[in-house]
Amino acid sequence: MLNSLKPEVKEILQNTENPVNSRMQAVCNLLQKHVPYYDWVGFYFRNGKKEELKLGPYAGTPTDHTIIPFGKGICGQVALSNKNFVVPDVKAQDNYIACSISVKSEIVVPLFVKGENIGQIDIDSNTVDPFTAQDEEFLEFITASVAEIL
Ligand code: SME
Repeated sequence: MLNSLKPEVKEILQNTENPVNSRMQAVCNLLQKHVPYYDWVGFYFRNGKKEELKLGPYAGTPTDHTIIPFGKGICGQVALSNKNFVVPDVKAQDNYIACSISVKSEIVVPLFVKGENIGQIDIDSNTVDPFTAQDEEFLEFITASVAEIL
């Protein structure tokens, strides 16, 4: 199911008629609409030279967490670790920033441009423990594809 979305993701991202932010927005919309357990889908990017992340395009409930300092929450930890972070159950995490009480799990995959971690894709799910290695592989495909157009 995830793999079947890849051609459309590529088509959206490679459509140079649209601004880059609109293309990323369209990818968020696509994923949130078609993957039943992707309830919130968004990109965070490093905010200039600051040690913080800034919310980019997203699909789902608006969040108060538009700025996240490096090290804070799952997103802030990934900004420092450069590694995927899969959280099967957010209740088990101490360093976690709750965006909505309905969120049960989360996955964050970093986005590298020329080897530098410049952002990430963040997925929140209202289902406990929905993410597998296939989600990691799929989201790595997404971040690599976005990196190509940045
Ligand atoms: N839960 C995230 C914060 C971002 S929201 O999920 C949109 C975290 O702990 O970093």
